[in-house]
Amino acid sequence: MAEAFDAAGLPIAKADRYAGLAVEIAAVLEGEPDRIARMATIAAMLAQTFAAFLWCGFYLVDPAKGDELVVGPYQGTLGCLRIAFGRGVCGTAALERRTLIVPDVAVFPGHIVCDARSRSEVVVPVLDRSGALIAVLDVDSAEPAAFDETDAAGLEAIVRQVFGAA
Ligand code: SME
Repeated sequence: MAEAFDAAGLPIAKADRYAGLAVEIAAVLEGEPDRIARMATIAAMLAQTFAAFLWCGFYLVDPAKGDELVVGPYQGTLGCLRIAFGRGVCGTAALERRTLIVPDVAVFPGHIVCDARSRSEVVVPVLDRSGALIAVLDVDSAEPAAFDETDAAGLEAIVRQVFGAA
């Protein structure tokens, strides 16, 4: 992933970029309860912060179905509209309610190709305050193995802070 630099020209560690972004997101979302507004803002701020993200956004649990995701706010090229639980990276993360880091999407069973440039992916479950799964946050990169535990922890912290138990 491309490096970022501070005002003095020194590289900013990825964990620090996530931490700074979490603070900015909290400030922007202060007093805004609407879930879609929150997700749209997070997607836009992630895309602005990490220019290397090819696609980032949310797939929401469709309350009418319970076992299907429907696309929510995102930044990037056209995403597929619906993903059944258990399908692809997003559906697997939703079914298993756990973060998945996929270094090579080509070898992930059932990976769903939305943008052929996508080479690697990280998907984080989004839980509400009661612990119910409400969505997954999906981030794609055109670079292979673009995501590691720092990305997973940074994204998990943001969705926990905004949607989960304090
Ligand atoms: N690749 C994902 C589908 C969603 S898009 O990449 C936007 C998957 O396999 O779950």
